[in-house]
This record gives sequence, C-alpha cells and structure tokens, in this order.
Amino acid sequence: MSITRRLFVCLLGSVCLASSAFAADKVYQVASDAAYAPFESLNAKQEVVGFDVDVLSAAAAKAGFKVKFHNTPWEGIFATLAMGDRDIVASAVTITPERKRSMDFSDPYFEAKQLIAVAANSAIGKFADLKGKKVGVQTGTTGDEVVQKLLGKTNPNIKRFESTPLALQELLAGGVDAVVADNGVVVNFITHNKGSKLKTLDDPSFTKEYYGFAVKKGNAALLARINRGLAVIKTDGTYDQIYKKYFGR
Ligand code: ARG
Repeated sequence: MSITRRLFVCLLGSVCLASSAFAADKVYQVASDAAYAPFESLNAKQEVVGFDVDVLSAAAAKAGFKVKFHNTPWEGIFATLAMGDRDIVASAVTITPERKRSMDFSDPYFEAKQLIAVAANSAIGKFADLKGKKVGVQTGTTGDEVVQKLLGKTNPNIKRFESTPLALQELLAGGVDAVVADNGVVVNFITHNKGSKLKTLDDPSFTKEYYGFAVKKGNAALLARINRGLAVIKTDGTYDQIYKKYFGR
C-alpha cells in the first residue's frame, strides 16, 4: 500500500470503514509461504493454491470481502503484517501463546501436530532417539521449537531450512537423519515421492496444534469478518467439502 493510500485510509478511516462499499472494494492482501502443500503451493501459473486458499477465500466470500494471495517467504512472513504490506497471513500458522503476543489470530480452522520423518530403514524409533542425530526443521516453525526442547536451541545438530520440502529433500539425500514438521505436509511429501522410502514416527509428547489466520495486532474489524466467514462455512458444509477435497473423508 502506498503512503498516500495509507494516509487516505487513516484520515478518512472513520468515514470510509463505516461504509460497507469501501470495505467491499478493498482487496485484503494475504501472505502464504507457498512451499507447503497441500496447504499452500504454487500451480503451473504461479498462483497460490491449496487448502488454506480455499478456506480463506470461501470465508471471505461469505463475509463479503476480497482476498489476494502472495507467495511470501516464511522467514519474515509475520513482519509483513506489522509493516502493513499484508493484511492476513494464511500459511498453516499454528496459534501459539508466544505468537499471540505480537499478532491476533482467527478462530482455529485446522488441527495438526508434529510428525517425525526418517528413512524407512532407520534405527530411529522414537523422538528421544534424535539425541545426537542431525535433525532438519523449517526455521522458526513449531517443528523447530519441539526439536529445540529436546536438543537445545543452539545445538548444531539442528539443521534449519527455509522451507519444509527443502528439509525433506535433505533427508532423502542423507544430509540429515530426521525431519520434524507438521503432519499434513510430511504425509503429502511422502505420498508424492513414492519411491522415497521414508516412514513417519509419532510421539506422545507432541501436542495438538491449531492453525489460525493471523492479522496485525488490534485489527479487530478484519478478524471479526474472517471469523464470521469461518463460522458460516463450518456450518453450511463448505468447510467439509474443502476438507474432503484435500484430505479425503
Ligand atoms: N504450523 C507450523 C508453524 O506454524 C509450520 C507452518 C509453516 N507454514 C508454511 N507455509 N511454511 O510453525
């Protein structure tokens, strides 16, 4: 958003935001790290597509606002909210107490948890076995946090990657012994790399995580609209349809 436009919105904010015509015309800019199938990835036309795109687009349509998705690197993705470059982060973001301090989250729209990926013939059988092993994670994700708790934040055996697929590729290449990441993405990667000979391990210490759409701290108006849309699609069957499209039953 240009400075003049931002000023215009601020100066006339009370007038403009009160008018539904203005709000309906505004296109809300959405940040997604589109290396995260099936939640967000790029299609052949370089458009962001996936579960998050379908859910947020459907919610926006029901609540009467427009969204435009932009492939945005995970590192720094939350800063785009504070800077005003993006209005919403839709990127399979886990709602955490720590993140809630610096941004606001919509109601949860997906339940997830961490999963360990290792070579099918690996001797690693449980999370604790990762001690002394090289573990790949996507920088700054909840997978990174979980592994930090086991190995220590500054442990050089934690290999940090800018995307989860890059970490998984490194596992295939033998550069790391395991990857810890969100279950949906790990399972999707294995499904699409059939010959890859990876297996997954769960651990009782991994707790449930919930994805939410993030907005700039204090943007209550937008949050209310997103939540209104989410509530509609959860009750009218739209959400279930989208869920089925990506995850089967
Ligand atoms: N759910 C995890 C987290 O919030 C990983 C999300 C990564 N998303 C992405 N599009 N790369 O930390």
